[in-house]
Amino acid sequence: MRITLSVIKADIGGYVGHSESHPEVMAKADECLAKAKGDGLLIDYYITKCGDDVQLIMTHQRGVDNEEVHKMCWDTFVEGTEVARKLGLYGAGQDLLADAFSGNVRGMGPGCAEMEFEERPAEPVIVFMADKTSAGAWNLPLYKMFADPFNTIGLVIAPNMHNGFIFEVHDVKGHKKISFNTPEEIYDMLVLLGAPSHYMVKAVYHRDTGDIAAVSSTERLSLIAGRYVGKDDPVCIVRSQGIFPAVGEVLEPFATPTLVEGWMRGSHHGPLMPTSIPDSTPTRFDGPPRVTAAGFQLQDGKLVGPRDMFADKSYDNARQKALDIADYMRQHGPFEPHRLPLDEMEYTTMPGVMKKLEGRFTDL
Ligand code: F6R
Ligand code: MG
Ligand code: MG
Repeated sequence: MRITLSVIKADIGGYVGHSESHPEVMAKADECLAKAKGDGLLIDYYITKCGDDVQLIMTHQRGVDNEEVHKMCWDTFVEGTEVARKLGLYGAGQDLLADAFSGNVRGMGPGCAEMEFEERPAEPVIVFMADKTSAGAWNLPLYKMFADPFNTIGLVIAPNMHNGFIFEVHDVKGHKKISFNTPEEIYDMLVLLGAPSHYMVKAVYHRDTGDIAAVSSTERLSLIAGRYVGKDDPVCIVRSQGIFPAVGEVLEPFATPTLVEGWMRGSHHGPLMPTSIPDSTPTRFDGPPRVTAAGFQLQDGKLVGPRDMFADKSYDNARQKALDIADYMRQHGPFEPHRLPLDEMEYTTMPGVMKKLEGRFTDL
């Protein structure tokens, strides 16, 4: 059975500040998606949150970028925004950057990761969701899952993975894309992936079968709006087991809380801390950045789950490490490399400050 798995998310109001999603907003989203399921548009859905972002996880058979599915999600966010406004939530409607829906939510503010595939007899999928960070935060974990044998032993000892994976990489500033065959092209690929604010892994495919293995949202809010309007807070879908990395190999990269862009005012580097879904409530200095993982088994498109994968005790050390890194990074205050470098701050107050000081610079 051919299934489309769509994850579409938006920050439509924070509770309190930018720290959490309000249950009434999520209840409204649930009402809207229940109707879409009743109407036959969706096979199944699950509503969750990561920090101040509402996550619509959906299965259907209409393919990716389907106008009706996207319009239904946009309308859901609009209705959720009304609830957020009534509750006086913070930044109600923040991510709805367009005045009206036009064909597709891409480029309109919400983040979007979708894949279409033939459902296997048993189909484990992990939906990763992040808050207080940008699209690009998945580069390092996706590299480790699908190209690093020190993370994924299956690349070495599982014959059905030994030939490697294809990475589709997007240049989000130059609006171009390129594909790399791994393992033989990893050195070239890492030149780009190591600059995650510019180059992002959009998708990963199995080399022998061409099956899609992973897809991420690469929408950059600042590039859409031309100014700082909140961080992208990206999502990523990964298929697992069989010809793909095992669930434990998919989760393993997050045992190291790597430094990502985001945190306070979207202008800092901080550790990406794996937490349970209820613990995705960025508080200290509006962070540190969070990642959650909802695991599902698909059954004829039905979402059996979720299991809250990072609620597991085996991620306690990663959390502690992230908190220690947060302490250390915070001590740098407004200094790089805690604060982002100037060229990454072009969508904040920085251009205004430079303009103000313009006339006061004299030649050396
Ligand atoms: C970061 C984030 C927050 C806000 C900060 C200021 O992604 O959402 O750190 O940037 O709380 O928010 P505003 O400008 O809305 O007052
Ligand atoms: Mg917010
Ligand atoms: Mg957010």
